[in-house]
Amino acid sequence: MAALNHYFATVARGLEPVAAQELKQLGAQEVHPDFTGVHFLGDQALLYRVNLWARTLFRVLVPIHEFSCPSTDRLYHEVQKIAWEDYLQPDNTLAVHCTGRSPALSHSHFTALQVKNAIVDQQRCIFGQRSSVDAQHPDLLINLHIQQNRCILSLDSSGASLHRRGYRQAMGAAPLKETLAAALLDLVGWDTGLPFIDPLCGSGTLPLEAGLKALNIAPGSFRQKFGFMGWPDFSVELWQSLLTEAQSSQLPELKAPIYGSDRDSNVLAQAQSNAERCGLAHHIALVQTELSQLESPADSGVLICNPPYGERLGDLQELGGFYKTLGDVLKQRFKGWTAFILTGNKELAKRVGLRASQRIPVYNGSLACTLLKYELY
Ligand SMILES: C[S@@+](CC[C@H](N)C(=O)[O-])C[C@H]1O[C@@H](n2cnc3c(N)ncnc32)[C@H](O)[C@@H]1O
Repeated sequence: MAALNHYFATVARGLEPVAAQELKQLGAQEVHPDFTGVHFLGDQALLYRVNLWARTLFRVLVPIHEFSCPSTDRLYHEVQKIAWEDYLQPDNTLAVHCTGRSPALSHSHFTALQVKNAIVDQQRCIFGQRSSVDAQHPDLLINLHIQQNRCILSLDSSGASLHRRGYRQAMGAAPLKETLAAALLDLVGWDTGLPFIDPLCGSGTLPLEAGLKALNIAPGSFRQKFGFMGWPDFSVELWQSLLTEAQSSQLPELKAPIYGSDRDSNVLAQAQSNAERCGLAHHIALVQTELSQLESPADSGVLICNPPYGERLGDLQELGGFYKTLGDVLKQRFKGWTAFILTGNKELAKRVGLRASQRIPVYNGSLACTLLKYELY
């Protein structure tokens, strides 16, 4: 049996239980949610599988050293304890990301430099040569996480965050992250056999993530690069076999229709080109519609939207009228549906004028929001 390693998946605040559930479904063992992350065990195949299939995670880290760190000198010393030639040769490039801080290590940029210096100084001693830094596309991306006086040094198996699926080049003014859109679908318990609509879909994040999920398309299959591909133990065969397996497990048709609409033709054009890039253009319907003109496309289904909430787009007074219109449209034309509104503004939420049957706290970036559930009879 292949050796089991300890992995740590990073995730947006509040989504730890959703991510833990997803990891269990992908075959992770000993899954333990923590603050903005989930610990789990698995082999190399699971590491690749999670990177390819996870819809709600940002990154999968492989912790290699944990230590207490009261000073920058101690940091340097601890980083040099690692035999870096196991991970990195002088002709490979590297980058270091630093997250968190402590009183002794309070400047992320300087702390990351200290880690990099400890590594390249070791290389110079052994090889007389050192790796160069490539901030954009390093062969090895190293993460140092600092919490109180403890440091965890990890290899980042994902490289760029997994919310960068590789299919979205165009986005509207205030797009949801793909990982949050996927997590919302899980949080509301959307059954892919039910029609789905986002009537304020912008660049299409929710309908596209719904489509990928419903057709069992691996969200990572559009990416060219993952962090683990630059590692000495990268197995092309294993990766290829997972890609082939993913391709053959795609479903040919949706079980129920998926719709997205928006009044803005520019953002809808972006949604359409994103849909083309991920092979969903012929599966989901994207239609330009002013909210007040929207008709329900089916007798029942799930509606999720994130209207503007004043933090980033729109003016509060005007938005009050808009939220009232949203409530009226739901009440009058979406009987039989379950609707969810994600908003960061409680006052605006009241203007919907419907009684929420559930309120789920959700962070959209650093903004504390609520996902409000409405059963429409
Ligand atoms: C916060 S954005 C949604 C972003 C989207 N979830 C995404 O990920 O790209 C809100 C969207 O509501 C749309 N919108 C605002 N007022 C509207 C109206 N009266 N009718 C239809 N769409 C409207 C805007 O064009 C904008 O795309």
